[in-house]
Amino acid sequence: MENKTILITGGAGFIGSHVVRLFVNKYPNYKIINLDNLTYAGNLANLKDIEDKPNYKFVKGDIVDGAAMYKLFEDEKFEAVIHLAAESHVDRSISNPTEFVFTNVIGTVNLLNAANRTWKDNFEGKLFYHVSTDEVYGSLGHEGLFTETSNYDPHSPYSASKASSDHFVRAYFDTYGLPSLISNCSNNYGSYQFPEKLIPLFINNIRNNQPLPVYGKGLNIRDWLWVEDHARAIDVIFHKGKLGSTYNIGGHNEWTNIDLIKIMCTILDGKLGREKGSSEKLITYVKDRAGHDLRYAIDSTKLKNELDWVPSLQFEKGLEKTIDWYLANVDWMESVTSGNYQDYYAKQYAKH
Ligand code: NAD
Ligand code: TYD
Repeated sequence: MENKTILITGGAGFIGSHVVRLFVNKYPNYKIINLDNLTYAGNLANLKDIEDKPNYKFVKGDIVDGAAMYKLFEDEKFEAVIHLAAESHVDRSISNPTEFVFTNVIGTVNLLNAANRTWKDNFEGKLFYHVSTDEVYGSLGHEGLFTETSNYDPHSPYSASKASSDHFVRAYFDTYGLPSLISNCSNNYGSYQFPEKLIPLFINNIRNNQPLPVYGKGLNIRDWLWVEDHARAIDVIFHKGKLGSTYNIGGHNEWTNIDLIKIMCTILDGKLGREKGSSEKLITYVKDRAGHDLRYAIDSTKLKNELDWVPSLQFEKGLEKTIDWYLANVDWMESVTSGNYQDYYAKQYAKH
């Protein structure tokens, strides 16, 4: 395997930490530079096991700072970028949309500019890989799946900002020939996910005997993929994906929120030694999320046929593994839920 210097942005976050870990361990010849601003969602404790590896370096920096990004590209001479840094939570985007425009749109354009200016005399062997979401395609009814040719139809400020960033990546490919590609993935679950997203939030609340705030009737549907399978897909697409292409990544694993929540309750009753049915009593139906997309579901046939990727882990197993991880890492959960988290939680759920 040749030597390469790769910038991974957002590597201290949930998915980014799994991608950094996979690349650092699997490719000792690659130098991995993790650029992250360590927002509330970024946490260097997510990378404790690899932080001393010789092929890994952490840089604290803000992708919204265009001059700093350009300097970083000049200094480090990256051959490739895997761009994950983003504001990623729909509820926060409803409360503060402008932050999402800065990070997700301006931040992405700053990185595209830095790559384009640094690489423009020789695009050979270079790659700008943009990691995106299925939420850009909007909401499905009860039938059908998102494919790579589905129309963009975002509804939340989060998905609108990610859609905009995807358009900029394609525009730089078409206009400047910047070697790039995009993947759009469904909802991820697994270790190190910040407990503002459904699965870790509900595991934490069940453990603490707190109410489980189910938006609306709990009938919205999400397609869940184990985060390590997403990281494996990113590895395959990074190495074998066709420039200018889009790849959808999904688990063929659709669940209504309420069914998923009930399974979590059952698993946790068993693991916490509680009477059967006791965690379900914590379910509390609250006011629906504004503009709540009904259903996401991904068709990842292209990725399977062209690059031979399929998810490795069956969902019930993955969920149990994930619950075990959160129960074994209560210190991690307590450290990320101290401080500002309490304020966030009080404000977010006072609205519902
Ligand atoms: P996350 O919120 O856990 O992590 C985001 C990381 O980006 C954090 O470490 C944060 O500190 C960093 N960051 C935020 N603003 C920054 C800035 N201005 N400069 C530098 N770093 C900054 O998010 P995640 O769930 O790991 O998602 C990662 C990427 O994958 C995002 O682009 C997201 O849109 C996409 N995605 C997420 C999911 C999902 O289910 N979580 C699914 C599909 C796609
Ligand atoms: P979330 O994890 O925020 O991901 P996304 O909105 O990006 O799909 O939410 C997953 C689903 O769970 C979504 O339909 C909203 C719902 N949900 C609740 O019912 N209650 C909650 O407290 C949260 C955070 C989410």
